[in-house]
This record gives sequence, C-alpha cells and structure tokens, in this order.
Amino acid sequence: MQIYLAPLQGLTDWIFRESFYEHIGQFDKTFSPFIRVQDGEFYRPSQCNDILPEHNTFQKPVPQFLGNDVVSFQCFENFCLQHNYTEANINMGCPFPIVVNKGMGGGILSHPELVAQLLQRIFEVTKLKISIKCRLGKDHVSEFEQLIPIFNDFPLEEIIIHPRVAKQQYKGEVDLEAFAQSASKLKHQVCYNGDILSIADIDKIKNLCPQVDRFMIGRGILQNPFLLAEIKPQNLTQEEKVNMLRDFHLSVIERCKLKYSGDLHLLKRFEEFWSYHALGFEDGRKIYKQVKKCTTLTKYEGIIFKAINDLE
Ligand SMILES: Cc1cc2nc3c(=O)[nH]c(=O)nc-3n(C[C@H](O)[C@H](O)[C@H](O)COP(=O)(O)O)c2cc1C
Repeated sequence: MQIYLAPLQGLTDWIFRESFYEHIGQFDKTFSPFIRVQDGEFYRPSQCNDILPEHNTFQKPVPQFLGNDVVSFQCFENFCLQHNYTEANINMGCPFPIVVNKGMGGGILSHPELVAQLLQRIFEVTKLKISIKCRLGKDHVSEFEQLIPIFNDFPLEEIIIHPRVAKQQYKGEVDLEAFAQSASKLKHQVCYNGDILSIADIDKIKNLCPQVDRFMIGRGILQNPFLLAEIKPQNLTQEEKVNMLRDFHLSVIERCKLKYSGDLHLLKRFEEFWSYHALGFEDGRKIYKQVKKCTTLTKYEGIIFKAINDLE
C-alpha cells in the first residue's frame, strides 16, 4: 500500500514536508501545492519556490500544475525540467470559485471536450510523466462518466480522485459508491483521497475497491501526524511521539524564521495550521483560541510547547 501526502496550499509546503520527513516519517510520494499558470505566465512566481531543489533536500515532491492551456503547461514544464523533475500532476479539482469560473481546477470537469483537448496537446509535447488529481465533477458526479473514456485514452501515470464535486468545496459527504464505480472503469492506477482520519477509513475503501492500494491524506495528517506511522505500522511510545512532535515544530519554526519577515506573517501561517492540528489535542479548542490570540513568536512557542509537553 502506498501513502501520499496531499497538497494543501499554505500548509504542506516545503517547510512542512522537510520538517515532517526529518522528524516524523516518509510518505511514498508528496505533491507541491498548485502552481498556477495563466496565459503562459506564472500567476504568482513565488509559488515556484516550493519546488526549488534547495528546498527539497530529503524528497522531491511531484510539482502540481494549475492551468488550462498548453502554453502555460509548457512554461511550467520548462521550469520542472530545469530542476530535473520527471513527473508532474495536473490539478483538476481546485473548488475555489475564482479558479472554477476560469475553467481551471474543478471548473474544467464540466467541459469534457476541453479536458480532451488539453491532454491531447500536453501529451504531444511533454517529456514528463503526467498524473491527474481530480474530483468527480464540477456540479454532479454524473459528469465523470464522460471523462472516463478521455482519461483512458492517455498514458497517465495515475489518477488521484477526491470523490466530492467542486460545488461542494469541502462540505458534505464523499461519494464512495460513485468513487468505486468510477475507479473500476478506469484503466489507470487510481489513488483515493478524501477524509481519511484512521485506518478504519482506509479499510472501508479497500473493502469497496480491493484494487485500490494508493491513498492520499491531507487534513488527517495535520490532525494526527502519526497516522502515517499507524498505517505503516511503527510502534512508537508516547514519549517518542512527543519528542518527534516537538522536534517537528521546532524545525518548522526555524525554517519559517528564515522565510517570513516579522512575527505577524509567521503567526498567520501557524494559525491556519493549528485550525487543523488542534483537532488532535484533547483541549484543542482552547489551544487553538490561544494560538489565534498570539501576537509574538515567543508567546506562540510558550503555548504550543506547553500543549506538546502536556501530552506526556
Ligand atoms: C487549505 C487547503 C488547501 C488545498 N490546496 C490544494 C492544492 O494546492 N492542490 C490540490 O490539488 N488540492 C488542494 N487541496 C485539496 C487537498 O489536496 C485534498 O484533496 C482535500 O483536502 C481532501 O483530502 P483530505 O480530506 O485528506 O484533506 C487543498 C485543501 C485544503 C483544505
């Protein structure tokens, strides 16, 4: 079984990935948060920093492309090749209205002709292995029916499916039945992604689709960083876990100090991280409230290292 780390913009960037690998564990694959390219130009050039080799010393992520034209893809591919990447992932799942309304991310899924055209053009020129991360549709899971023969027409490395539709964003249920039906009709390797918080969640999917043995986890890892060690069983004592978690946080803070200027930028990032991470602590609501109120890095360190020490 393979376990992948999901791309989470602003959360699982190189700082998180390097610190996680160093102190907690190693995923079979990781993915960069999306790098948006539009009209042949990087939308925010700083997004490229995430895949620079000097930021990925332990494990290189699969770079993720968000865009919907081949000229933009070539701009992205050139940057990837320049840094010796061999694989890229195409984002066909981002649910944010400003992306969807431009026909990118999950927005492309209701236009099967555009999906076919984009993949056709990309495969005419690319030197990279190509995988796709998608949802089951923009507005309805029935949209996926028309996408299956298109995906089957191209030599994709794998397809990662988050079985919600873009319209849902992150709300409502994942549609496991629709996932199982779609996965069985795809000729590619399929990876399941969405709402995995425990081994039982993985078992549920394995029972429905025994052929699926790749799982991507995002928020579940932020909530419980030791979920990976539970799945690929590694017997850790509570003392070991506490030490690993402390070292992970120290490492994130050190790297963030180099990246961000001023405590406030840094604290905004930590606030978002703890909106997920605190869910794994018994008194998580209290810790999250304190983190939100924090005005200096020193206070932040006091709060979180107390919370971690209390786990002992
Ligand atoms: C804050 C946030 C940022 C995300 N950024 C990305 C992204 O950059 N690229 C992408 O493909 N998916 C992105 N996603 C979606 C996740 O990769 C994943 O598909 C989703 O969270 C479901 O998996 P999970 O329940 O294991 O978190 C993001 C999700 C969240 C909550």
